[in-house]
Amino acid sequence: MAEARCGLWARPFCGQLRAADAGRRVELAGWVRRRRDLGGIIFVDLRDREGWVQVLFPEEPLKSQAASLSHEDVVRVVGTVRPRPADMVNRELPTGEIEVLAEELEVLSTAHVPPFVVEDQVNASEELRLRYRYLDLRRPEMTRGLLLRDRITFAIRQYFHEMGFVEVETPILTRSTPEGARDFLVPSRLSRGAFYALPQSPQLFKQLLQVAGLGRYVQIARCFRDEDLRADRQPEFTQIDVEASFVQEEDIYTLIEGLFARIFPLVGIHPPERFPRLAWSEAMERFGSDRPDTRFGLELVELGAVSATCSFEPLQRAAAQGRVKGLVVPGGAAFSRKQLDELSEAVKPFGAPGLLWFRKTAEGYASPAKRALGEEGVAAFLAAAGAGEGDLLVAVGGPPKVVFAALGALRLQLARQLGLLPAHRHDFLWVTDFPLLEWDEETRRYYACHHPFTSPHPSDLERLESDPASVRARAYDVVMDGVELGGGSIRIHDPELQRRVFSVLGIGEEEARRKFGFLLEAFRYGAPPHGGIALGLDRLVMLMAGRESIRDVIAFPKTTAGNCLLTDAPNTVDEAQLAELHLRLT
Ligand code: AMO
Repeated sequence: MAEARCGLWARPFCGQLRAADAGRRVELAGWVRRRRDLGGIIFVDLRDREGWVQVLFPEEPLKSQAASLSHEDVVRVVGTVRPRPADMVNRELPTGEIEVLAEELEVLSTAHVPPFVVEDQVNASEELRLRYRYLDLRRPEMTRGLLLRDRITFAIRQYFHEMGFVEVETPILTRSTPEGARDFLVPSRLSRGAFYALPQSPQLFKQLLQVAGLGRYVQIARCFRDEDLRADRQPEFTQIDVEASFVQEEDIYTLIEGLFARIFPLVGIHPPERFPRLAWSEAMERFGSDRPDTRFGLELVELGAVSATCSFEPLQRAAAQGRVKGLVVPGGAAFSRKQLDELSEAVKPFGAPGLLWFRKTAEGYASPAKRALGEEGVAAFLAAAGAGEGDLLVAVGGPPKVVFAALGALRLQLARQLGLLPAHRHDFLWVTDFPLLEWDEETRRYYACHHPFTSPHPSDLERLESDPASVRARAYDVVMDGVELGGGSIRIHDPELQRRVFSVLGIGEEEARRKFGFLLEAFRYGAPPHGGIALGLDRLVMLMAGRESIRDVIAFPKTTAGNCLLTDAPNTVDEAQLAELHLRLT
């Protein structure tokens, strides 16, 4: 019996056979990728997760049996591996030097005509692919994504294990952890009217594990956030969640740089030994983003001074009340009216009323503000921006947040449009010195930029109450090619400082006790200084696989509307189930 088991597990995958296997008698099982009848011989491409191999059926009775096989039938084949004739070798295919001469054929399962072809060049909509996800995952590029994810996750676990980290699972049924999104709630049957929250991250537990003395914690952790979805956001996603005691920022940087040095070579990318650091304020000023894509220039230019003294009232006002910044588009003076209108439309979703442009061509200076500014005024703006003849200067004025967001997005759009994104360059960097708090005009209160457990910079502490917006956090993000891969911070471990931060956030003693009493209590019993980070595993795998969406590297993702098209979740439940949970729908 043991031997039989061994035999099964030793069986090669179809896609693993190579020239060195010639002469070997093998038992294969897989899916019929393709069947051809060539000169009286039936050729079947047999596919499994590792690839596919050509199987030959030259003789009866197997030949007739093979002739009736359909796409995606599941078969078992016994045969002998042999080299292909020289003129039949396919160098493009890993198994292209050999073929398998069949001696036995057994049909294990027959398949209906699939709703789309199970090939990389698929012409089905994403909706159809998600509905038949098991067929979609059979496509080689999707299978490769899953296999890569497995290799990356395995290497990550190995790395952290070597670095002395311990993997601990934290609860899924828990209470709210503030990470800035809405919670998914689970009603309790046993405690009437009470709800669990699914964790937005294991943040509080990983801090408690430091108080528990674990020292170095890691978890490949599922997180749940009810937020608006995009290509790089899912309602449930996976973090590589890390926390350690007695660490400073530099220790976290070296830890993660070491991790990337370990895993990125799996896909032929070699990150630098140390990643450049960019303070948040500089990132915003230069790139209009806290996750700048530094692979191309097109940096923001300052137009505050020239605006303040210009004779165009809207810009003058914007400079006085907020900021005016711009972008110089090389060769952009040739943009058509339509292209300029498109740029203007692109900044509107960010709250900018539009943008103003300036250019000098052979015909002279031009700008919609030329009447107010005069030739000289337009020239002054172009000079301030360092724009030459043939360039286009676009400017946005308004509150700093709007100006940065609008120009940051425009910069990316222009880079794509002008083909400035290099294909084989990858930039890694740390964004540091985030602000601790952010003022929200609508609710008229401060919010934690990261989360409320992030430590303020010691040198800024004295301004915590008097000028909260100016306080920097000991927080950092790691960014690759304009994607925020992860973020973390050195934490507060002093209950008194934690209370002060809660208080600035408008969380009173009573609320703090109710929501985070257990953490404050824990800090009273010997809390080590600690800090950590969490990396988005889905985003990491997406970038490593060179894909555009995290949906491509998640086995069963949800749509942007939060639905699973395969299982039709979320779905209604019957009255009895609701009653049991003490719930009634209104
Ligand atoms: P943060 O909220 O920055 O930090 O999350 C860390 C990383 O998780 C990934 N991520 C997501 N990936 C996919 N879909 C989502 N909806 C989503 N939301 C976040 C991102 C992000 O950089 N507890 C802190 C970490 C810490 O302080 O140690 C936290 O969760 O890649």
